Amino acid sequence: MKTIIEPFKIKMVEPIKLTTPEQREAILRRAAFNVFQVPAEEVIIDLLTDSGTAAMSAEQWAGMIRGDESYAGGRSWFRFETVLRELTGMPHVLPTHQGRASERILFELLGGAGKVIPSNNHFDTTRANIEHSGAKAVDLVIDEGKHPRNRHPFKGNMDIAKLETLIAEVGAANIPVCMMTVTNNSGGGQPVSLANLREVRAVCTRHHIPFFLDACRFAENAYLIKLREPGQVNRSAREIAQEMFALADGATISAKKDGLVNIGGVLLMRDDALAQRANNLLILTEGFVTYGGLAGRDLEAMAQGFTEVLDEHYLEYRIRSTAYLGEHLLKAGIQIVEPPGGHAIYIDAAAFCAHIPPAQFPGQALVCALYRHAGIRAVEIGSVMFGADTPPPMELVRLAIPRRVYTQSHIDYVIEAAGEVFAQRSKLRGLRITEAPPMLRHFTARFEEI
Ligand code: F0G
Repeated sequence: MKTIIEPFKIKMVEPIKLTTPEQREAILRRAAFNVFQVPAEEVIIDLLTDSGTAAMSAEQWAGMIRGDESYAGGRSWFRFETVLRELTGMPHVLPTHQGRASERILFELLGGAGKVIPSNNHFDTTRANIEHSGAKAVDLVIDEGKHPRNRHPFKGNMDIAKLETLIAEVGAANIPVCMMTVTNNSGGGQPVSLANLREVRAVCTRHHIPFFLDACRFAENAYLIKLREPGQVNRSAREIAQEMFALADGATISAKKDGLVNIGGVLLMRDDALAQRANNLLILTEGFVTYGGLAGRDLEAMAQGFTEVLDEHYLEYRIRSTAYLGEHLLKAGIQIVEPPGGHAIYIDAAAFCAHIPPAQFPGQALVCALYRHAGIRAVEIGSVMFGADTPPPMELVRLAIPRRVYTQSHIDYVIEAAGEVFAQRSKLRGLRITEAPPMLRHFTARFEEI
């Protein structure tokens, strides 16, 4: 059979409110042209994020009922710990309420003034947590990763020569950890190859630098390795994921992505002394080490989610349906980051709105146009998100696909709407910021149209 179907059926539905263009115009103005400020009820297709937006399975919901809510050593905790240990091989498993809580603990321990922390591309919360500790975050993605049209199969890879140069410049002693984001969210959701992970591991070992994964989308990365890396096609996604973790000394994970849950995170490590210090911080701000700011039922849902996500039929459907959106946008003449990655399609907003300069936020203009035209909520990953101090290599608009939530006809609607906006692209207007906080400004900044 040629058609790859959604490998699940729908047991429960949530109605979508269908707004008119006039209603959306008023809503957009009330939100000061920032879709983070638009109530979700007023969104028709919500592609703001794939984070915490998954539909849980019947088994996950059953686990929610079985959750053991004991304060210490609950049954759900032991199930969660076992699943994560078997998947990652990491002896120390710390539950947290989401990815950035893991980051905050890790960088409070390893960061600090004078320290430099490289990655392929740091996600914005990772960068913010590193900088909050006083350390410097450096992005070392390969040059191919900065060009939307380049079809390199692993555009999330780190540039090994740049890593070596950085180590020579600042000294290994000032690099407390090297990170790698799999898949590379800020760089277009592009995967990292096993070969590159092995090379980075070797460099880190030579210089005695710990190597950590930001493994939010480890399963999608593993499946893209299976599809694209020579010699990997006959291995299971699970085996590949296990090898990815085996190459690392630790990992931060937001379970809101490939954990297939609505809330939750993990901090993993091998080093006993570091884990001891991390546990102390965990108790200080998150909760006791066997629940970390979550309910027992959340741990059950995560344990099940981290198992289900490696189902090959699920991953085949997931990666294929993302590619479907990307291929149809390309066919409509819309430039995206090629080839399609795992969790999202990234539109090249600089190409889409060629008449709008970066200082007038072409990505934000496109986000507003998609909402106005069809009630689609996307997110800008460009000059608004990165700020004036670190101009981004690309002006992107991300259409993130929630896991197991939308069907093919929802995606066809998005394709149609994007094509219609593209036909009228010369009418899109740039924006200026009227108000913005000092950090993570994309969430709350207010805009007006120029
Ligand atoms: N790392 C990566 C690569 C991420 O994509 C995210 C979140 C985090 C860390 C932080 O995790 O939200 O659980 O605290 N990304 C979401 C997104 C918000 O929309 O891409 P968190």
